[in-house]
Amino acid sequence: MIRLFVAIALPDSVAEGLILLQGGVQGARWSTREQLHLTLRFIGEVDGRDAAAIDDALATIRAPHFMLELKGVGQFGGKNPRALWAGVRDEAPVSHLQRKIESAVQRVGFQPEERKFSPHVTLARLRGSPRERVVTFLSTHALYASGAFEVNGFILYSSKLTPNGSLYRPERAYALE
Ligand code: 2AM
Repeated sequence: MIRLFVAIALPDSVAEGLILLQGGVQGARWSTREQLHLTLRFIGEVDGRDAAAIDDALATIRAPHFMLELKGVGQFGGKNPRALWAGVRDEAPVSHLQRKIESAVQRVGFQPEERKFSPHVTLARLRGSPRERVVTFLSTHALYASGAFEVNGFILYSSKLTPNGSLYRPERAYALE
């Protein structure tokens, strides 16, 4: 079995900018350079046959390349924040690609994703972080913007859960038009 997800990789310049935001929140486990990505579709544990079917389906996707800009920061979890993330400025092109991936994955027999797609790059997972630190982080970096970069492909990653966090490995890359 292999744990898979589909994501957009970030250029080094953008990843370096995100790494510079990290710090100042107790209980945060910050994403490493290798862990930074924008998830398009979480797939989960599949066997080799399903993995091959997903690869084939993703390879048929035709979608235009586009410009993407990360902008702003936020948190998931409300009163008990569990993650910090960077958002995107214009969701339209990334949502377009996400819908194509969603239908490709459903075509090979997977159930529809139930969560609403909310494009973000996870910066940290939080455990017991003081709320005021989270609030300060969010206000300090409210004006964060990466600058626009070109997205000319997307990637099928595998994920291995280790005691030191998740190890993500690019397995296949797919080009946009
Ligand atoms: P997150 O960063 O918002 O937690 C690999 O685990 C990627 O898939 C992560 O970026 C994670 O998003 C995303 N993902 C989406 N749904 C998931 C789930 N049910 N379990 C684990 N990861 C999930």
